[in-house]
This record gives sequence, structure tokens and C-alpha cells, in this order.
Amino acid sequence: MESKVKKIGVLTSGGDAPGMNAAIRAVVRAARSKGIEVVGVHRGYAGLIKGDIVDMDVRDVSNILQSGGTSLLSARSKEFCTEEGMQMAIDNCHKFGIEGLVVIGGDGSYRGAGDLSSRGIHCIGLPGTIDNDISSTDYTIGFDTCVNCVVDMVDRIRDTMRSHERCSVVEVMGRNAGYIALHAGIATGAAFVMVPEVDSSVEDVIAKIEEGRALGKYNFIVIVAEGVGHAEELSKKIQDATGVVTRATILGHVQRGGSPTARDRVLASRFGAYAVDLLAAGKSNRVVGVRNDKLVDYDIQEALAMKKEFPMELYNMSDIISI
Ligand code: F6P
Repeated sequence: MESKVKKIGVLTSGGDAPGMNAAIRAVVRAARSKGIEVVGVHRGYAGLIKGDIVDMDVRDVSNILQSGGTSLLSARSKEFCTEEGMQMAIDNCHKFGIEGLVVIGGDGSYRGAGDLSSRGIHCIGLPGTIDNDISSTDYTIGFDTCVNCVVDMVDRIRDTMRSHERCSVVEVMGRNAGYIALHAGIATGAAFVMVPEVDSSVEDVIAKIEEGRALGKYNFIVIVAEGVGHAEELSKKIQDATGVVTRATILGHVQRGGSPTARDRVLASRFGAYAVDLLAAGKSNRVVGVRNDKLVDYDIQEALAMKKEFPMELYNMSDIISI
């Protein structure tokens, strides 16, 4: 069937995430297979406003599958939220012949894609963020790589905590969500995981450490999501209350870099090719996600209104087996 669009653009927006390159590659190559021309937009919506746009062919995306970050560069654009900025972006779409746009990013990027769609540019959003905080998908591009990175770092911290019989409080990213903390906590056997979605206090953490000590445990990992507390402050309180020497580590941006895992590469490739299918079929104002390993797509406004349930059964299980 002939494609409904002849030329599309692809951009990455917001915080970068490992696997974005795999999605870009899939978009370019899937589009080419349908005879659709592709341009890459640099620096997200900021590049769309400036006209920082380049042709992309199949060889332009060689050797990026395995690299972290985004080869198209990313940015958070305040200007795009203004009427003038939006108009300049639309003018550039017309100037460059961009009929459809694949936007890889988080919720904020989806909003921009919704606005562009309502003004006639066919937009498809793909979930790209390490935080996994997008309600319209079970998993986002970059989450798996991030969790694996945290697990690797915490395993190293555990080695030295064990040698010195200490406690370590590790602060991880996630903005206002606790998915990274929860998954990394389970995978590293953290004694306590503090997340924004579950009410817990420093007293709860101290009680868990005391309970563990009574059962012969002598080294502890506490994982705290950045949206709920600060590692330094928590460490001091734990050490003062328990007498266990406690150190704080803030993992920071190391969590957002690195070569994407196979899982992220596969997910991102599937998302990218699916986005092109939707554009070729004339669809617009949709976001792509994965539910029970099946690709799905939703209206952008419907997706933005969805609530993601925090997996309490996982959280409770983690608490039970981490004694
Ligand atoms: O959304 C991804 C994320 O890495 C969050 O986990 C974190 O809170 C934020 O971005 C950090 O943003 P920046 O790189 O702008 O400091």
C-alpha cells in the first residue's frame, strides 16, 4: 500500500536515554523501505524552530545502534511552548516538506507532539526516558539499561560495604517516580527501597536495619529515589540511630549513559518501525507503547490522561525477601 506521507522527520527531546539511537535507526530504515524520505531534527523542538534539520539516509544511521545518548542531540525547549515558537516550528515543517514527525521523549515531548498534530503535522510519540514514568507503556526506552547500570554500581558498593560491615545509601534518578529504585532494589537485594509512591520514613528504614541486625545481617544497602529523599541526610540519620557506619552515594548521570542493553535495543527498534507504519497509514496524534510485550498505540491526549499504577506487589515482595 502506498504511504500517506512522503517525507517525515525524527527528533529526540528531553532527557536522553540509551536506546534512542536504535529507535532513530529503525525510523530511518523502516521509512526508506516504504519509499518515505527522512530528515533528522537536531536538539529536539529547539532544532525544529531553528531549522536545524538534515537529510538522513540508511548509511547515516550505521553504527549508532550500540551507542548511548542520542546522535540527534536533545534539548528541553521553552520557546516551543510559546505561540511564536510553535509557529516557527510549523513553518519549518512546511519549508522542509515534513508531513510527519516521530518524537522520541517523555510526557513533555508528547504534549508538544499533540500540539503539532492539532496544527496539521502528523506526529507519533515514542516513549524514551530512563524513568519509566510514562503511563501509556509498560516500559520506556532506556529504563532497562539504566536499571542494569544501577545494579552494576550497587554490586560494587556492596562488595566494600560487606568488607567493612557498613550501610550504604544510594540515591538514584527517576524524577518523581520510583521505578528505577524499585527494580534496582530487588535486583541488588536492598534492605530498604524508598520511593515517592509509597509513604515511608527514616524510622521505617532504621527499624528494618535493626530487624536485619537481630537476624545476623551486617551490611546494608538502602536505595532512595531522588524524588523522595537525599542520600547524605538519610545516611547521617541512619548512622546516628543505629551506630552502623553509613556512607552516601549519589549515582547521578552515570545512570543515563552507556551502551543500551539488548532489551532496550530490541524495544526501541520495534517502536521505531511501528511509528513509521502508523505514519505511512496516515495516522497522527498517537503514541506508541508496549503492553504485555505487544505493541499498542493511543491518542496522545488519552495517553497523557492515563495513570500508571505503581506495582505494590513487587514493592511488598521486595520488602519481604530483603531481610
Ligand atoms: O528524566 C530523566 C532524568 O534523568 C531524571 O531521572 C532526572 O531527574 C532528570 O532527568 C535530570 O535532568 P538533567 O539532566 O536536566 O539534570
